[in-house]
Amino acid sequence: MPESTQVTMETLVSLSKRRGFVFQASEIYGGIAGFWDYGPYGVELVRNIKDTWWRAYVDSQINIVGVDTAIIQHPMLWKASGHVDTFVDPMIDCKNCKHRFRADHVADLDTSDLDKLNEALKDKACPNCGKKHTFTEAKVFNLMLKTYLGPVQDEASIAYLRPETAGSIFTQYENVRETTRQKLPFGIAQIGKAFRNEITPKDFVFRVRELEQMEMQYFLPEAEAEAAYKRWKEYAYELLLKMGLPKGNLRFRDHAPDERAHYAKAALDIEYKFPMGFKELHGIHNRSDFDLTQHAKFSGKDLTFFDEATKTRFMPHVIESSVGVGRLMLALMHAAYDEEEVNGETRVVLRFRPEIAPIKIAVLPLSKKPELTEPTKAVFAELAGQFRAEYDETQSIGKRYRRQDEIGTPLCVTFDFDSLEDKAVTIRHRDTMEQKRVPIAELNQTIAGMLKEF
Ligand code: GAP
Repeated sequence: MPESTQVTMETLVSLSKRRGFVFQASEIYGGIAGFWDYGPYGVELVRNIKDTWWRAYVDSQINIVGVDTAIIQHPMLWKASGHVDTFVDPMIDCKNCKHRFRADHVADLDTSDLDKLNEALKDKACPNCGKKHTFTEAKVFNLMLKTYLGPVQDEASIAYLRPETAGSIFTQYENVRETTRQKLPFGIAQIGKAFRNEITPKDFVFRVRELEQMEMQYFLPEAEAEAAYKRWKEYAYELLLKMGLPKGNLRFRDHAPDERAHYAKAALDIEYKFPMGFKELHGIHNRSDFDLTQHAKFSGKDLTFFDEATKTRFMPHVIESSVGVGRLMLALMHAAYDEEEVNGETRVVLRFRPEIAPIKIAVLPLSKKPELTEPTKAVFAELAGQFRAEYDETQSIGKRYRRQDEIGTPLCVTFDFDSLEDKAVTIRHRDTMEQKRVPIAELNQTIAGMLKEF
């Protein structure tokens, strides 16, 4: 994103809706807070993000494997993990306007210490009605979404929608390790939905109630934990840069001891400069042996590891890498967004890396005449097997180029009347808007080369 372009959240929300990236869930009923539907370009973008992440954390690693576990697990899992008792946010109500807020957000303090929060809130005005001295004492509220299993809705049938994908990675740790013949250190990765009853879902897809996480738990001896924490922190940061986030919009922030999740021995965020300021994008946590120890205790199963080399038995420690798909998508859209003046008009362009762009190639007949549309469809069929392509014949060619710019398509291929004679097409580059003539017979190869050069 060039320095001069200030990208607001409204700009991104409006572009997302206008171009089919993200819609409000249940929009025709007025929407439902904290839930969003991904449209045709959003789903492609998200798939590219997940594929890139999976390649980096699973495909290219000798000792990391993937799983896809159930969203609903035995409720004891969340008791053991501490989420039933400690996965809570401090809340306050305004006695004047009855609005409910996260106490730490209103106090502008990264802490869950209720005394500190109540102290800091004394001078704060209600963000909704502006009145001072109207807050209730801060109290805690569990963030897990509940449901009931079976026909009877009572305490015994309560189940939770997982608040993080990590939980079942710990409970399947031994099955996965055994079946893949892994020794420590090794990792288990998962991409999947998680649910949190956020009190104040806000900032578009930044804070939602139904989210998707990309998480990797790296199991290792305690002595290796500190070095691995640093290594995975750097690895995560490098991948964010590779995906297209600029260095100037990223920073690390270590968690203070009273701010860490209940399971974390050390934790840091990689923050991104969203329109509302620097906020958490990605978490790296040293979860110590907390989770496996708890699950061993609650399940009665031995989850220790016997190291043949040293003939020692110990409980593995865990370094966790965790990032939300939607939050990363938002950061990538923000970073890619650009506006520029072209012939007296504003051109909006998403300068995505080609690997991330929802559509790689737009295939366009110059006009809707069948003598052009039919051979253009044949070119589309030829390209579609190799690149995610889109065929479009509606409106003027200029408008179609602009539409592709707005969804970040790197290349447009145009079939015109000359193409019928010279068996060549024009390729237009998204960023330079330069066009070049290429024989149809060399199209796949030329496009592959051009995409690499972005
Ligand atoms: N397993 C560790 C864990 O869940 P977290 O810091 O609570 O840690 C990890 O969440 C990541 O998930 C965050 O860095 C963020 O990208 C994403 N995330 C968490 N809560 C979210 C929410 N309500 N909406 C969108 N993304 C969220």
